Amino acid sequence: MEKPLILHMDPGVDDALALVLALNSPEFNILGVIASYGNVPRETSLRNIFRILNYLGVDDVKVYKGSYRPIMGHVDYAFDIHGEDGLGNISLPYKGGVASGMAIDFLLESSREYGDLTIVSTAPLTDIALAILADSEFVDRVSRLISMGGAFGLTPYGYGNMGAASEFNVYSDPHAASIVYSSGLDVYSVGLDVTRDPSAVYTEEEVRKIGRGGGAIGKLFPNMVSSILRIEGAVAIHDAVPVAYLVDENILRFKDVYVSVELCGSESYGATIVDRREWLPGDLRQGSRVWVADWIDGGRFKEIMWERVLGPSVGRR
Ligand code: RIB
Ligand code: CA
Repeated sequence: MEKPLILHMDPGVDDALALVLALNSPEFNILGVIASYGNVPRETSLRNIFRILNYLGVDDVKVYKGSYRPIMGHVDYAFDIHGEDGLGNISLPYKGGVASGMAIDFLLESSREYGDLTIVSTAPLTDIALAILADSEFVDRVSRLISMGGAFGLTPYGYGNMGAASEFNVYSDPHAASIVYSSGLDVYSVGLDVTRDPSAVYTEEEVRKIGRGGGAIGKLFPNMVSSILRIEGAVAIHDAVPVAYLVDENILRFKDVYVSVELCGSESYGATIVDRREWLPGDLRQGSRVWVADWIDGGRFKEIMWERVLGPSVGRR
């Protein structure tokens, strides 16, 4: 039985690869993809989703417009990492596509129509928060939200990428993250704690090898990730991890912790803070209960990526 799935993205190189993984996974019934601001402006996200669909020859997936800015604050686009075009400046042709409507309507209507809806968000959580605020029953209708975001300090890799403490998706809209975490929605957070695990990250040599032996996406991979490799010295495909988890739930382990989000710190704005006073009962701990990933099988993750995204079996339809 296919899982009904909504993707909420800000492509962005890793979002784009996560989208390819979802499109090449028969386990999913992709109800639609939401284009959010984040790595790039919303309109660029929208165009990049159509670029990926066009490149793969997919014409039956609906695309919706998400928010163009956070609830509070401003946006720091990540052009340095993702390029001006958001896909590593690989200049994929854009044949055009028209959004099927607004994200909030799509989210609310889908949650009414499907009883076991899963949402994967790989972008700032603005649209999810707006749906929660718009309809008090939304959280009860959604099966679970799997969100790439946060840096929880549960592993040695759980530190910030927007400053010392904050992860980009939460930093971009910490008010939205706080609303989502405290909403009662069943939230599974896939943070930098696991997406940066060395077992799941690609070395320069691996990137080159994929470029030589990969398929339709694999051969684009070295150019797509060239800035990430130059700046960070290795390539973490953060956003593909939550989608790969839905393909094989054995690749991640989650721990239930109490999380709060820093909304006003001058040094820690957007940080995700875990209350580690485990001797206290839940109602006395700071924050809201969230499932946070604290272990990843990076080898299995890379297998899934090779089989369904980067390897020679992935062609254009
Ligand atoms: O911190 C990594 C996250 O921020 C990823 O979703 C990446 O695409 C950026 O949006
Ligand atoms: Ca993203």
